[in-house]
Amino acid sequence: MSPSKKQFVFLGPPGSGKGTQAKVLAEALGVPHVSTGDMFRAAIAAKSELGTKVDGLLKAGQLVPDEVTNKLVRERLQQPDASAGFVLDGYPRNLPQAQFLHTLAPEVRAILIELVDDEAVKRIAGRRTCSTCGAIFHIIFKPPKVVGACDVCGGTLAQRTDETESVVRDRLKVYHGEIEPVAASYRARGRLLTIDGAPPIPDVAVAIRKALGL
Ligand code: AP5
Ligand code: MG
Repeated sequence: MSPSKKQFVFLGPPGSGKGTQAKVLAEALGVPHVSTGDMFRAAIAAKSELGTKVDGLLKAGQLVPDEVTNKLVRERLQQPDASAGFVLDGYPRNLPQAQFLHTLAPEVRAILIELVDDEAVKRIAGRRTCSTCGAIFHIIFKPPKVVGACDVCGGTLAQRTDETESVVRDRLKVYHGEIEPVAASYRARGRLLTIDGAPPIPDVAVAIRKALGL
């Protein structure tokens, strides 16, 4: 696998740890963490035109249309801070998005975090996210030092609007319906690493770094 470019994408079901591990890897590499889910949630919080358009889709666990998502990603990857590389999280999510990304960054490597659905549901039930900086916690597996407050910035921890069990099950259905051709396209080009997402957070981080030769 070519070690040349610091361009990575995280694939994996909701709750598998994409956001958790993408933040760790991006910090280690000194490149931006680009989460399409975080960008949509920021747009919703800002009540922007994009936010208004996508709010209902996120609440229902459905994908935002590709043309909207692809444009957002293209614009983000064109920012100067992404010129040295990036860690994408939650994109691409279907084959058309993977094909679009290939036109922007043909050398990306994909890291697929695997986790069984029931475990993913349990993790999401305990997740708490900082409303200010987006840091991710878990009430059991990664508890904040002070209940309800972010360790990083002191912001308020909250649950997302797509975290009810029925929406999570719908998001898992969408994921399983779309991801195999995406994984297959990276596998066929020798650019897919598969990581077991079940061990504790630090162990998964070590496994990713080892697999990448970092
Ligand atoms: P997005 O925000 O990407 O959500 P997701 O893919 O459903 O994934 P999550 O963020 O829920 O989980 P994660 O894998 O990041 O896990 P985390 O690290 O938080 O997308 C949301 C929505 O936006 C979509 O449904 C769609 O509507 C829209 N959207 C986004 N991208 C799109 C795209 N490309 N195209 C179209 N629409 C798009 O970890 C989960 C919890 O587990 C945390 O509490 C964490 O602390 C804990 N945890 C993590 N790892 C471990 C571990 N190893 N052991 C124990 N606990 C752990
Ligand atoms: Mg996430």
